[in-house]
This record gives sequence, structure tokens and C-alpha cells, in this order.
Amino acid sequence: MRLRVEAKGGLQGRIKVPGDKSISHRSVMLGSLAEGKTEIEGFLTGEDCLSTVKAFQDMGVKIEGVGTDQMVVHGVGLRGLKEPKDLLDFGNSGTTTRLMLGILAGQKFYSVATGDDSLKSRPMARVTKPLSTMGGEFYGRDNANLLPITVVGKGELNSISYDSPVASAQVKSAVLLAGLYGEGVTEVREPAKSRDHTERMLEYFGANIEVDGLAVKVEGNPKLTGKKVVVPGDISSAAFLMVAAMITEGSEIIIENVGLNPTRDGVIEALRKMKGNFELLNQRDVNGEPIADIKVKSSQLKGTVIDGDLIPLLIDEIPILAVAASQAEGKTIIKDAEELRVKETDRIDAMVKELTRLGVEVKEREDGMEIVGKQQITGGVTCQSYHDHRIAMSMAVAGLIAEGAVEVEGAECINISFPNFKELLDSLSK
Ligand code: S3P
Repeated sequence: MRLRVEAKGGLQGRIKVPGDKSISHRSVMLGSLAEGKTEIEGFLTGEDCLSTVKAFQDMGVKIEGVGTDQMVVHGVGLRGLKEPKDLLDFGNSGTTTRLMLGILAGQKFYSVATGDDSLKSRPMARVTKPLSTMGGEFYGRDNANLLPITVVGKGELNSISYDSPVASAQVKSAVLLAGLYGEGVTEVREPAKSRDHTERMLEYFGANIEVDGLAVKVEGNPKLTGKKVVVPGDISSAAFLMVAAMITEGSEIIIENVGLNPTRDGVIEALRKMKGNFELLNQRDVNGEPIADIKVKSSQLKGTVIDGDLIPLLIDEIPILAVAASQAEGKTIIKDAEELRVKETDRIDAMVKELTRLGVEVKEREDGMEIVGKQQITGGVTCQSYHDHRIAMSMAVAGLIAEGAVEVEGAECINISFPNFKELLDSLSK
């Protein structure tokens, strides 16, 4: 599908973005492994989260309301999953795959995980390696690095203490979830803080969790109890509309109900450093997660440096921050972000190619990019999505200030995380 976007002037209105992708995945996972009912409100019906739902249905979990944002998961308990009769197809979802490998390692049964072409090329050894030291058994190409991966579950795992070489919530979460099947205490330390939704939700469901700086411990064999989970709006989705409003003249929008977990709000800090014109209103807490409404106006952005420990806190927002940088005064340098090369696509390569196509002066670095600001976006071009939702949406937002229309080829991938993106954008630019 091709998405066509053209300049229409300022954005106006009050909207809500769909539910947080990371929290939605975890609500189904923990809801399934808990005893009793888990009611989920505000679930993201994007394709990635539906891959998680389908996987648990394939393992015998009853889930009501699938396809809507209100679901009820009938938990089967830590040891109640059933052997799936067929391949578990995780589609495009890295989060589903890496977290599920942790869960599958601890089951008593055999399973085979696979996914789409992008997922089949993403590195899984970062989880199968530590999970193997816990006693998990994996078979797959390149030493269990590439899907399809077969898991021969044992039912019991060893508890370990693991120093992760990457600041990745997916790696941390895979080990913590496998740790639920260990006898003792499993510990993971990471080089910088990554999103902490797994530890927060495990604690909320009744697990014994201890967090000490960059270290997290979980006790094996907890009794998890079904809960009500209210999923906040996804800050990673809100970021596209924040930047859209900042770079278009005459904009003023309010995005309601956005999750502002401190391990996810790096984009707020980066946009503050760039002198973005926005305010956080009505700050409150829901289910132990901080939430606010965000009022955003057209902004005179300034170039900045985005690097170091800030990177894991805004890793998914870098493509759209690169679009913001193209309109800022001065140069923006994004570095220490080599993880972008192993996302749904190589996001450094993709952003450099597509921004260049739009007439932006951008220099590739091994670990990021340097963008020269205050550039006129050239329209009348067709951008590629690389089947990556965040690349597709970034290009669409750039189209709002182009001279002539921008088309995005392969825009159906936006459904992976933000199914009503085009509808919301249109509703703001009447
Ligand atoms: C996620 C963690 C991040 C992020 C992804 C979602 C999660 O990946 O990029 O979109 O929900 O745990 P990494 O753990 O690979 O950094």
C-alpha cells in the first residue's frame, strides 16, 4: 500500500494514541502465566501484539475480545501452557520472539518459533546464549541465532546471574521470564538502563522483584495472580505526532494519556534539548506507570547531540528525531546508537537513504548519523518503508512539510504498531 502525504498547514486538535506496545505484549504474557483472570484496557491491536495473542492461543490460553482494545485473558498458571501443534509464527515482532524464547525455554514441551523475513534475519543469540546457560535447549541456523528456532523445553531451568553486554529490555526480559522457571534467584545486570515494564508488571502480578540500579533480581516459581491492566498511550507513537506538530507552522495539539515511564521518556528530554515547544499537563499515575497529556505547538527547534545513556531511553524514537533534526537550526549528532542496525530494518542505513532522497544533508556514522538542519524537504518523491513501521511513519511526517507530495511505498507495515496513524494525522490537519 502507498501512503500519500502533502503539506496542509498547521495541525489542530485533541487526540489519543493507541496503547503502549511494550506494555500490551507483557499484559498478555503475564496474564497467560498468572492464575485467574486478567482484564486489559487500552490494548494495542497492532499486528505485533496480535502475534503475542495468537501464540498464547496456540498454547491453549483462552482470550476474549481479541481484535479490540478490551481483552480478558484466562490465565493458566506458570505451568499450564500446552504444546503448540504447529509453528509459532511471531510475524515481525522482535519483542514477542525474544520474550517468548525465555518463556518457552522453561516449558515441558517442544516448540518451533518463526517469523517474517525481517525477523528471520534479526539476532537471537543475544537471548539463546544466556538462556542456554540456564539449561534451555535451542536449535537453529548460525548456532541458534536465526529463526526458525526449535526449543526443547525442560520444565525446569537453572537460576543465573547474567551481565548483559547490551542495554536491551528484550534480553533482560527474556532472562527474567526464564528465571520464573528457576529454583532460586535470577539476576540480570545491564550496561545502561533499558525499559523496565517487565520488572514493574512482574511485581504487580505478585513476583518477588528486587531492583538495584542496573541490576534486577527475580525469584523463581512465584505465584502470579491475574490483575486489571490499564495500558497507557504509547509514547513511541505519540512522538510522531509531537514532531509533526513541532515542524509544521501554526500547530497546537494535545495528545492525551501518554505513558511517561522514566525508562521510556528519552524523547521528551531530547525534544527539550532541541527547544521543542511542549508542556506536560495533568501528570498522574495509573497502575504504577506515570502518565500525562502532552500539549505541543509549532517550534523553533535547535540542533543537539543525542548519545550515551539517553540512547536506550529513546531507541525507537530516533528515526522521527532525525526528521525533527532536519528542521532544527544547526547540526544534530546521533551517536552510540549501533543497536539501530538490528531493528526491524537497519534504521541508520534506511534513514540516511530516505532523508537523502528528500533532499536532507545527512552523514552516516557506524553508530548513528549527523544531520544538517533547516533543510527544505523535496516532495514529488516516493520513499521506501523497508517494511519498518517507524521508517514509514517518519517519512509520512516529513511529507507534511515537503514541497509537493511524498509517497511512502509499503506503508501497510504501519499496522504493526499504529493502525490508525493516517486517520489521526488526517483528523489533525483539516
Ligand atoms: C522493546 C525493547 C526495545 C525496543 C522494542 C520494544 C520491548 O528493543 O526497540 O521496540 O518491548 O522490550 P531492544 O530490547 O532490542 O532494545
